[in-house]
Amino acid sequence: MLNEKVKKLLNEQVNKELYSAYLYLDFSNYFESRGLNGFANWYYVQAQEERDHAMLLYRYLHKNNEKVALEAIAQPDKKLDSDMGVLKAGLEHEIYVTSLINDIYSAAQSAKDYRTMQLLDWFVKEQSEEEDNANNLIAKMELFGSTPNGLYMLNNELAARVYAAPSLVV
Ligand code: FEO
Repeated sequence: MLNEKVKKLLNEQVNKELYSAYLYLDFSNYFESRGLNGFANWYYVQAQEERDHAMLLYRYLHKNNEKVALEAIAQPDKKLDSDMGVLKAGLEHEIYVTSLINDIYSAAQSAKDYRTMQLLDWFVKEQSEEEDNANNLIAKMELFGSTPNGLYMLNNELAARVYAAPSLVV
């Protein structure tokens, strides 16, 4: 049995990760409509990774004999009015998700729940990568995105991103 607070936060995080998947699908949707299929691909792959994050937490809860409450997933609420605006909304979202993971970690630490802390170690590292990816994307866009040639090259680069299953097995 998991600590009540830890269980509640993990359960909520399943929903938050599914929301992240939904949000990035909306980003992909935006870039599809702009004709930037590489950017659309990048966020489509990101949406798949977010679904994986939700599934890892889902499986972890069940492995610990906890039933998951599947709540409604909120509608993506970020205003998507420019390419750079979308990229920045992605970074902002990842910083928020990092704070959520840190909150669960703190609760697990207070409850001496070393098992959950071990699971969350992977998520802490993953969040560092996610923020780094979002920052790099913004930096590249600032450097190259303001000319048609630069945007074309960047779009091609992002088209090459492929989905990979998570390194963590639960
Ligand atoms: Fe699941 Fe992008 O954090």
